Amino acid sequence: MHRIIIEGNNKLSGRVRISGSKNSAVALVPAAVLCDEEVTIANVPNISDIDALDEILNHLGAKVTRDKDVMKIDSSNIKNKLIPEKISKKLRASYYFMGALLGKFKYVQMYFPGGCSIGQRPINLHLKGFEALGATVKEEDNLFTISAEKLTGAKINLDFASVGATINLMLAAVKAEGVTVISNAAKEPHIVNVATFLNNMGAKISGAGTSEIKITGVEHLHSCFHEVVPDYIETGTYMILASVIGENMIIENIIPDHVESLISKLEDVGVPMEIGVDYIKISAPEKLLATNIKTQVYPGFPTDLQQPFATLLTQATGKSIITETIWENRFLNLFELNKMGATTELLTNSKAVIIGPCKLKGKKVKATDLRAGASLVIAGLIADGQTIIENANYILRGYEGIVEKLTKLGAKIKLEKENE
Ligand code: EPU
Repeated sequence: MHRIIIEGNNKLSGRVRISGSKNSAVALVPAAVLCDEEVTIANVPNISDIDALDEILNHLGAKVTRDKDVMKIDSSNIKNKLIPEKISKKLRASYYFMGALLGKFKYVQMYFPGGCSIGQRPINLHLKGFEALGATVKEEDNLFTISAEKLTGAKINLDFASVGATINLMLAAVKAEGVTVISNAAKEPHIVNVATFLNNMGAKISGAGTSEIKITGVEHLHSCFHEVVPDYIETGTYMILASVIGENMIIENIIPDHVESLISKLEDVGVPMEIGVDYIKISAPEKLLATNIKTQVYPGFPTDLQQPFATLLTQATGKSIITETIWENRFLNLFELNKMGATTELLTNSKAVIIGPCKLKGKKVKATDLRAGASLVIAGLIADGQTIIENANYILRGYEGIVEKLTKLGAKIKLEKENE
């Protein structure tokens, strides 16, 4: 385990370049196994979740090369082996190998995936969708065996617009016989990015980015070049950071449309922004105003920015209410923020109140998940004195070069092994 140490209360300025999207890349890499030839994926973030997927690819016998942000994956000779539980438990996205291996071999055995503890995270919608395509699902001691004589296109209506289920079902359906229609599909930018990747390989997918996705099965997927879309959650995290401690901070290599819901909330709290084609320039205003946020599926306010935004609200004048509708356990950062001097309270499991502004003081705190960690990094950067964030490995799962990027912006921050 690592910890991050921050000496806070320095203004940050300069440019920060946003990396490829974690949640897109972690689906693109497993999707590559569907291809019978080598694929090249560029703008892959250098984060530990990608290292874990690389380990799975190696275990399956894929040839993988990584050069900076470019990953080449040749799955032409992979073996459909059981992925050891200790590797699939390392991250949530290991479950995309369910859809990809089922699509390729019509058979997969996999353990229940891991990931941040932010709720129960069931996979019933994925499994129900696989069954609709003609597969049989068996579960014993966390081990899922999913098999099909053949996969046949079907109409699948998701009870909830789940990101993971939408992607996994696209992966399973891409080589199924006939037409699959996923309705109430998730619309996040990474859904579009994954569909484009599959189409670049020769798949026939239309409607990605809307609530109805149509997939006409094909027999063969071929080599292609593809780029990971910029990470809109990393973008949003730096925008929030700039709104509390930035001085002409420029967040670049982004798609501003993807953070529209955040832009609208930052306008509500009084943050002036210059929005370019692929950048946003932000300086923290003298005074931030309280507001309410409610997390929703895309294009609503993203749950993955709720925790970083909570830190901003500790600096806003008045009473703010946060309603979390996606995950049951995404307020643990508030206990840590309170240790640093914030005034926050959990009203129910899904509702919290924050009263601001509060001067934060550096303390020893714990990252309980990836975005809780981002919330604490922002808190540490605005706090007086030294903040030590334990369990920082959560943060390294999803933010490429966070210490280097923040150092370049003028932060006093370092990463240490916890036993040092
Ligand atoms: N759900 C079910 N059954 C399912 C699938 C989902 O009930 O079969 C429920 C979940 O319990 C949750 C809701 O549906 O209440 C949303 O789940 P979704 O499937 O959309 O989330 P996910 O695919 O597991 C991805 C991201 C999360 C992000 C969510 C929502 C990846 C690897 N993870 O999770 O990212 O919060 O979508 O946008 O793509 C993060 O990056 O910090 C993170 C947690």
